[in-house]
Amino acid sequence: MSVEVLGISGSPIPKSNTDRAVQCVLEATGLTTAFVKLSDLRMEPCRGCLGCKDTNQCVVQDDAQTLAEQFRAAKGFVLGAYTPYSSLDARSKMFMERMYCLRHQVGLNKGKVGAAIITTACPPEVAGMPPASQTATAQIGIWMMEEGMVNVGSMVILGNAPCIRCGYGDQCEFSGVKMLHGPDATVASLGVRRFEDGEPLVNGARELGVKIRAAVLAVNAVGA
Ligand SMILES: Cc1cc2nc3c(=O)[nH]c(=O)nc-3n(C[C@H](O)[C@H](O)[C@H](O)COP(=O)(O)O)c2cc1C
Repeated sequence: MSVEVLGISGSPIPKSNTDRAVQCVLEATGLTTAFVKLSDLRMEPCRGCLGCKDTNQCVVQDDAQTLAEQFRAAKGFVLGAYTPYSSLDARSKMFMERMYCLRHQVGLNKGKVGAAIITTACPPEVAGMPPASQTATAQIGIWMMEEGMVNVGSMVILGNAPCIRCGYGDQCEFSGVKMLHGPDATVASLGVRRFEDGEPLVNGARELGVKIRAAVLAVNAVGA
């Protein structure tokens, strides 16, 4: 049976919050789904060579060939990204760029139903910090808009600064622990955040899945 909704995670961390949130959205769709972790693939960014302009097929021979086929066939998707240096991670951006091959002349991305999950270590209320989650949300939203996709929404998940697990989080001058959470924060006082521990987050991810389902079924009904 063909995949109706594709879940894509830009997080390279094994079984990360981003991965699990994407999988939660997929499950809630009740449709046929597949999960792709971009760090498992070998792919490079778009070369801007326009080798795809007549064929809608990228000329770069890497794993994005199969990914583009899967994405093309899917009616919907959820893209999970994280925010290194307060903007969209490189793999998620690379994924978006590589799907450019589907755009030329026929607009194969048009009408595809999409949603986004952004995992960030920076709570939105921290004064003086760049708006990481808003920036990444906007980047994915603009891509969907420029491709004529149906954006059913996005959600932000508070994840963990890498300094929580590096072993130097309490003493490193550049640690995100105190930078993001104030001078009294320690690795132990913050603990490790898990997506599943926040009931509103899990419910939010499920709601996103239900919205994807409704929009995909509506698209199917029009196309029938
Ligand atoms: C190299 C690196 C840089 C990061 N820089 C930021 C940052 O500037 N702002 C932020 O909010 N999170 C930053 N993060 C934290 C990620 O957004 C965080 O690890 C995210 O929760 C990852 O989610 P995960 O649990 O799915 O891996 C950074 C992470 C890495 C690995």
